[in-house]
Amino acid sequence: MSALSSFPAFAQRHLLGIAHLQPHEIEQLIDLAEAEVAVSRRRDKKKSTLKGRTQINLFFEASTRTQSSFELAGKRLGADVMNMSVANSSVKKGETLIDTAMTLNAMRPDILVVRHHSAGAVALLAQKVACSVVNAGDGAHEHPTQALLDALTVRRRKGRIAGLIVAICGDVLHSRVARSNILLLNALGAQVRVVAPSTLLPRGIEQMGVEVHRRMADGLKNADVVMMLRLQRERMAGSFVPSVREYFRYFGLDSDKLKIAKPDALVMHPGPMNRGVEIASEIADGPQSVIEEQVEMGVAVRMAVMQALIGGSEVTA
Ligand code: NCD
Repeated sequence: MSALSSFPAFAQRHLLGIAHLQPHEIEQLIDLAEAEVAVSRRRDKKKSTLKGRTQINLFFEASTRTQSSFELAGKRLGADVMNMSVANSSVKKGETLIDTAMTLNAMRPDILVVRHHSAGAVALLAQKVACSVVNAGDGAHEHPTQALLDALTVRRRKGRIAGLIVAICGDVLHSRVARSNILLLNALGAQVRVVAPSTLLPRGIEQMGVEVHRRMADGLKNADVVMMLRLQRERMAGSFVPSVREYFRYFGLDSDKLKIAKPDALVMHPGPMNRGVEIASEIADGPQSVIEEQVEMGVAVRMAVMQALIGGSEVTA
């Protein structure tokens, strides 16, 4: 059997958001990722499914973990990976998003991994280029690979997603991680709650099919998974919380609040964490935390996604 035949046709050209995926496509990506976990645990971590392919990471927003995760994923698949961050680009000289994309497109990459501070910018760019595009986070809109890696982490630990109670807590308003996770978890049959002060809840969030709680004591009750979100102070114009100390007291995950959830509840955080703001250090490093596992699963998920999009045996001119 050839290596490529292990990648059944994936019906999509781009991964722009969880909203565009059918439940079976989400499961297909998680299954593919599950198989990639072992690759990164081997001594020789190199595959050749993307050998000869060019991957460009185009990041208009600072990122350490997501960019390095996509870079390692591409390298482990044998692709040639180029990182372009906005600090070195002509965007600083006034070139538009589309001009930058068209310039890169002319170099004939096979896949562009794009992060941008505006919701919708990555989808716009995908319409203009000839290659596959992966959304690595667009404004407060979507961050699909984060939701997929979170689902893989949960499924490996709990054996399933359907029927689990997942509490997503904190700065839901500014969070693309929350949006993508809500879409994915609902698609796979989990029961999703959001827990936050009113100032950090987007208007109409109930319409996404979540239970809304404004107190941790209610929102964490019987939860199987507690997903904490970073307080995104860089996106806040004005004051959304009275003070960091008060925020921690009411919404920070400490051992007292964690006791409200199920005794074997998983603690998750997409990173980067503000220790002592949304999560106590002893919880982040404690026995229920799977935060490092999320990082490991991130590489596997990105390997799976990129192979699903461009790893097949397509014929191109
Ligand atoms: C998240 C992001 O950028 O949306 N982080 C990440 O992808 N590692 C969450 C966050 O910044 O808080």
